[in-house]
Amino acid sequence: MRFRDKSIIVTGAGSGIGRAAATLFAAEGGLVVVADRTEGADETARLIAEAGGAARAIRIDAGLEEDVARAVDLAVAEFGGLDVMFANAGISGGMANIFDTDVALIAEVLRVNLIGPFLAIKHGAPHIAQRGGGAIVLTASVAGIRSGAGSPAYSASKAGVINLAQVSAQQLTGSNVRVNAICPGLTETGMTKLTFDYAREAGKSDRIGRLNPLRRGAQPEELARVALFLASDDASYVNGQAIAVDGGLSSSHPVTKQEFGRTAV
Ligand SMILES: NC(=O)c1ccc[n+]([C@@H]2O[C@H](COP(=O)([O-])OP(=O)(O)OC[C@H]3O[C@@H](n4cnc5c(N)ncnc54)[C@H](O)[C@@H]3O)[C@@H](O)[C@H]2O)c1
Repeated sequence: MRFRDKSIIVTGAGSGIGRAAATLFAAEGGLVVVADRTEGADETARLIAEAGGAARAIRIDAGLEEDVARAVDLAVAEFGGLDVMFANAGISGGMANIFDTDVALIAEVLRVNLIGPFLAIKHGAPHIAQRGGGAIVLTASVAGIRSGAGSPAYSASKAGVINLAQVSAQQLTGSNVRVNAICPGLTETGMTKLTFDYAREAGKSDRIGRLNPLRRGAQPEELARVALFLASDDASYVNGQAIAVDGGLSSSHPVTKQEFGRTAV
């Protein structure tokens, strides 16, 4: 019960990693504002309530300043303040290369994926500081660490999120508000449903995640558990970091793997 009576906002909580995190926060006693732009928010809040937890759903566009302010206002009004912000909402924006990416597309990806976390910090941190401290967790991606895991627009947006965690942790010096990011590898969620479904239908599930040493994709709870760790006092001295949660994918240059128990050829 690491989050007993803590007021927590999760954006993108209507599906995938956000839903898993909202559910786990509530199971550990958290009072959760479940924010999403879809009706998935209501469904997540219903699931939490059914399990005996406390949640309020709110429909927001996480890349719009007035909407993020509304979510913070709801947490303050309903739960008396704010302790944790998990800025997780994101879009993939497709796989277009630079020459097929028009400015409107990259602007929208940056608005949701990068300006969204910026707004979450801007509006959430002062309230968390008022409580004497707490944590902000941002969802970046392995795509933000280096090339190869997303489109140019998506990758640049997530690289921005990693830097935002560093800069904002510094700018919150003295507030006792920590800011960290998780960098998921391929995870089975709404965003990647087509990839997983296609692989299953084609009998190629073993190809999913085969480039990482664990040779599989992740489940949303595996990401959510790391987000909860970073949001909790267990991570009381972790600040300004971006933690890859990718089965080991980003730990190597692309070389022939040395397999356990076998000499690589
Ligand atoms: N699934 C992966 O393989 C993977 C890998 C790396 C990073 N991520 C990141 O994880 C985060 C969560 O995505 P997911 O994989 O759980 O996908 P998902 O599609 O299952 O969940 C994303 C949620 O965010 C919501 N959302 C999107 N834009 C929004 C907006 N403007 N305002 C409010 N809500 C919005 C969606 O409605 C959805 O409920 C994203 O930031 C994504 O970029 C995912």
